[in-house]
Amino acid sequence: MASKTVSGHEKIETSNFLMIVLVLLTVIVGGIVEIVPLFFQRSTTQPVAGLKPYTALQVAGRDIYVREGCYNCHSQMIRPFRAETLRYGHYSLAGEFVYDRPFQWGSKRTGPDLQRVGGKYSDEWHRIHLTNPRDLVPESNMPAYPWLAKSPVDASDMGKKLSVLRTLGAPYSDEEVAGAAEAVKGKTELEAVIAYLQVLGTSVK
Ligand code: HEC
Repeated sequence: MASKTVSGHEKIETSNFLMIVLVLLTVIVGGIVEIVPLFFQRSTTQPVAGLKPYTALQVAGRDIYVREGCYNCHSQMIRPFRAETLRYGHYSLAGEFVYDRPFQWGSKRTGPDLQRVGGKYSDEWHRIHLTNPRDLVPESNMPAYPWLAKSPVDASDMGKKLSVLRTLGAPYSDEEVAGAAEAVKGKTELEAVIAYLQVLGTSVK
């Protein structure tokens, strides 16, 4: 029986080699088209109006937030859906995170999203809540972090941290870098975390 000549799509589907090469090509071209423009769009690369880089104390608090794994239960990414914006406030904008390295978006929500928690409660509320959440929210399953109030912030590498962030684009002045260690001296880790929480999401009203 004379073999039928295969052509067109059938030729691709019956050849491992052609299939692999063309699938790779499709993924690469599709990826480039979707991803590359994000590096150049103003909406994803420029800070939103009024966004300030974190102060030394807020940077220290952010590092403690990462160390303690708060992101395992809290996202910082309000999606542009009505149910989300009614509960949390304005949806997250890429321009709010240009000084976050790395950003703490996450998707795990055992607890609520924290992107707009800044200014929602008093410092005192956070102090009690972080020391023992059950004192304020009886049904809470958030862990207590009593050691934060007893641990001083490590001031020794704050200047270095700010200068590295400046290299990556955060507009710190020489004075801010030079004064970074002094700015956190004598502060507790609890104060640092609260300073960080209180600024979250406040650049967008
Ligand atoms: C095991 C999961 C879990 C971890 C880890 C966790 N939380 Fe929570 N968090 C929760 C839950 C659940 C709630 C809601 C109940 C409550 O308010 O305590 C909450 C509530 C909060 C709230 C109040 C939010 C609001 O809008 O009412 C803040 C602020 C907060 N957490 C900060 C933190 C910080 C900072 C850390 C890390 C030091 C942390 N959480 C770690 C589960 C967690």
